[in-house]
Amino acid sequence: MSSYVGRRSLLAGAAGMAGVAGMAMAQAAPAAAATGRRYEGKVVLVTGATSGIGREAAIAFAGEGAKVGFCGRRENLGWQVEREIKQSGGEATYIKADVRDPRQLQTFVDRVVRTYGGLHVAMNNAGVQHRKYLTDMTLAEWEDTLATNSRAVWLGIKYQAPHIKESGGGVILVTGSANEFATRPYAGAYAASKGAVTGLVRSAAVELGASGIRVVALSPGTTDTAMVDGWRSIMAPDASDEEWAALKAGPQPGIDGLKRMARPKELATAALALASEDMSFLTGVSVLVDGGMLAGI
Ligand SMILES: NC(=O)c1ccc[n+]([C@@H]2O[C@H](COP(=O)([O-])OP(=O)(O)OC[C@H]3O[C@@H](n4cnc5c(N)ncnc54)[C@H](OP(=O)(O)O)[C@@H]3O)[C@@H](O)[C@H]2O)c1
Repeated sequence: MSSYVGRRSLLAGAAGMAGVAGMAMAQAAPAAAATGRRYEGKVVLVTGATSGIGREAAIAFAGEGAKVGFCGRRENLGWQVEREIKQSGGEATYIKADVRDPRQLQTFVDRVVRTYGGLHVAMNNAGVQHRKYLTDMTLAEWEDTLATNSRAVWLGIKYQAPHIKESGGGVILVTGSANEFATRPYAGAYAASKGAVTGLVRSAAVELGASGIRVVALSPGTTDTAMVDGWRSIMAPDASDEEWAALKAGPQPGIDGLKRMARPKELATAALALASEDMSFLTGVSVLVDGGMLAGI
């Protein structure tokens, strides 16, 4: 498959290399973050917060007063995020855990509850993507994708819900994807794993609503994180670091609405909004935060 197809499909012909002169872009900074400390006195857990969207969410929840427990496998990054939060006056604990291992996931959840005395919001965010055609995908890659993006979400819900109920109710967020609804070449296993999230969120919402637990998927479109960098070898194998950075920062014709990638902080802002009391009647849905990527035809 040529890198042209990859480029059309992810950055969708994005400019950097080809140029899209005159394209109107919504490059303006996101609206000012909500003010106030909506999570004062709350305990929040985030899986996969060593980088990207999870990292920004952990920082943002702590910034609004939450005590945050988070996991990820890369210890150096985990300690770094914990340090950053504490240096800004927030409270956070990094606990190394691989969400593919049920015992590690359960221990992580229980340790957060023991450390902070309850659980009010759980954000099941850890995710991976192997960029392969379905016909080239190995069994190990398929199982890694499903174990991380789907099974760990189910197990997360299973382990988190009793604690949230005991704490008087709360919210389970899952980081889904625009790939719940549409897909592209090289994303077959990922799309299947995120499609499972759609079903899990609905099922959990109808089973847990009576316990005072809302369950919502935050479904990002293309967001500038390490996950997008994983496409580089397919889309722009010959690009220098500078060219790749320019390609990502440039206009994105495939993102029909805003014509740019999201910044991870914008997804964190959305996560805080969805988990907040302002959204007290929202449950059992996937909320697309994709800059209008799926709005076009
Ligand atoms: N970026 C996008 O365009 C995009 C679009 C739609 C949805 N998403 C979703 O957003 C979520 C976050 O991804 P991201 O874009 O922020 O990418 P990222 O920077 O690569 O973050 C992924 C996070 O998941 C963690 N993780 C992966 N496997 C794990 C495991 N087995 N156990 C524990 N943690 C694990 C990683 O930590 P360690 O490596 O340290 O374990 C990392 O903190 C994912 O669910 C992804 O599918 C991303």
